[in-house]
Amino acid sequence: MSIQIIEFAATMQQQALAWRAENKRLGFVPTMGYLHEGHLSLMRLLRPRCEVLMTSIFVNPRQFGPKEDFAQYPRDLQRDVKLCESAGGNVVFHPAVEDIYPKNFHTHVEVEYLTETLCGPWRPGHFRGVTTVVCKLFNIVQPHLAAFGQKDAQQVVVIERMVQDLNMPIEIVVGPTLREPDGLAMSSRNIYLSPTERQQATALYHALTLAERMIRGGERDPAQIIPAMKSLIQHEVTSPVIEYIEIVDRAALHPVQAIAGEIIIALAVRISRTRLIDNFMLKI
Ligand code: PAJ
Repeated sequence: MSIQIIEFAATMQQQALAWRAENKRLGFVPTMGYLHEGHLSLMRLLRPRCEVLMTSIFVNPRQFGPKEDFAQYPRDLQRDVKLCESAGGNVVFHPAVEDIYPKNFHTHVEVEYLTETLCGPWRPGHFRGVTTVVCKLFNIVQPHLAAFGQKDAQQVVVIERMVQDLNMPIEIVVGPTLREPDGLAMSSRNIYLSPTERQQATALYHALTLAERMIRGGERDPAQIIPAMKSLIQHEVTSPVIEYIEIVDRAALHPVQAIAGEIIIALAVRISRTRLIDNFMLKI
């Protein structure tokens, strides 16, 4: 089966329902395009587990703030289609903004509590935009399985919550964070970085590695670890804007007083105009 590009939600949904009627197992990887190995690794994770592998490429305006990079976000459909094909994809769903959000669109999906911390306060409306579009995409694409990357740890937990709270019959599969050889987490936004900034961007990974080393060495107090991460970043990056460094419980996404159980160490740092996030998940 060669790769099929579908532009309209109605066509996509009809096709998905037809496949379901033939008992085909449908796998889905939602993306905003400008694909890299991180995206492709999610496709490869689902490939052996489904018969039809679908990828959406949709830069979702509703998850960008008014001062964020929606207009500049990189786009290259032809390249993305080739990459999808190379990863064994069967369908690229590439809808227009007006098809997903017609003029009279007024419905939103919002996950509370889990969006109060980490990126939530820094990107008002972001997760509401994500859950709304992912809910719509699930309804259009009708997947049995959908894959998300641990790179966006809060997004994973928020989507898992939405699926459970709204009784969506979809299995969420989580893939590990793919990194460049020097540790920088792959991201479509890394192309914004100048060569110097690109070098300095490894500071996020270094800070996470430092935190992990402290925890493995017996440190259990976030108040000791977070300042050490902060000073490492200030040392390695020219005028970083550290939005947050938090150590949170994996399930609740709220800060822990002492490190125990499943935790996520997460941070967001702006290096000039580029906002970078990264995280480690640890089991203690
Ligand atoms: P996007 O940033 O394009 O990412 C699409 C998927 O790829 C997400 O699940 C993300 O976590 C995963 N991903 C990104 N970088 C990765 C890396 N280095 N390693 C592993 N996986 C990685 O996330 C979104 O788009 C959007 O919010 C979306 C879910 C599509 C809704 O619009």
